[in-house]
Amino acid sequence: MNEIISLLQNHRSIRKFTDQPVSQDQLNAILASAQAASTSSNMQAYSVIHVKDEGLNSQLAAWAGNQPYVSECPLFLVWCADLHRYEQAVQRHGDTSVTGNAENFIVATVDAALAAQNAAVAAESLGFGVVYIGGLRNKPAEVSALLGLPQLVYPVFGMCIGVPDQEPLPRPRLPLEAVYHENRYTDNKVAVDEYDESIRDYMHVRSDGKVDTTWSKEMAAKAQRPREHMKAFLSTQGFEVE
Ligand SMILES: Cc1cc2nc3c(=O)[nH]c(=O)nc-3n(C[C@H](O)[C@H](O)[C@H](O)COP(=O)(O)O)c2cc1C
Repeated sequence: MNEIISLLQNHRSIRKFTDQPVSQDQLNAILASAQAASTSSNMQAYSVIHVKDEGLNSQLAAWAGNQPYVSECPLFLVWCADLHRYEQAVQRHGDTSVTGNAENFIVATVDAALAAQNAAVAAESLGFGVVYIGGLRNKPAEVSALLGLPQLVYPVFGMCIGVPDQEPLPRPRLPLEAVYHENRYTDNKVAVDEYDESIRDYMHVRSDGKVDTTWSKEMAAKAQRPREHMKAFLSTQGFEVE
């Protein structure tokens, strides 16, 4: 169709990188692309932390559930939802307090995700591969302390960026009918049945026949690890998500 659409549809997460560094010019282009993303009411309610220190990256890799690529990748970014700067701006003009209520929590989280995805696409367009690291939310309080995050800031996810040293198969997505609805929401169980089989085939190939699973089985396993600690953590960071 066009180069951008091909790039988007060619995405796959990369978890093994060469040693080739990301140059300062490339990093600047990635970050400028992140900053160009749409943002709720121009709040730009996010921050991104480039973790350069090896010791910090090793610690983050461990806390993320021993994901070695966190410390092995040439560029590791932590994307944070950030209402702290918004609060500081507001305080220049009186004593209105900023709340980390559910609405502002959503605004900041969405802003962080939109900026991050722009960065991901920009990085991929430069020939890099990326993987998001939600594993940082295994230990959100520890990660926040390590990175010195103030109140009203929390780490949404990390992101590894580097030149791919692997060529994984693209992971199939749900059939469009499962996610696309016209006029009103409709359940489509057949589409999920179909997808279970395509993930079974994909995992079979990816694991050289060792793994037999389906999408719904993976989702059932994931549902057993609901990261219940996030609610209490967010509350200590000033977000009221009761
Ligand atoms: C917010 C978010 C968090 C993620 N966290 C991790 C992670 O901690 N570790 C990992 O290996 N992949 C992680 N991923 C990558 C997903 O597993 C991956 O995008 C998904 O399985 C689809 O595969 P694909 O990106 O190769 O198409 C994350 C993705 C997102 C969007």
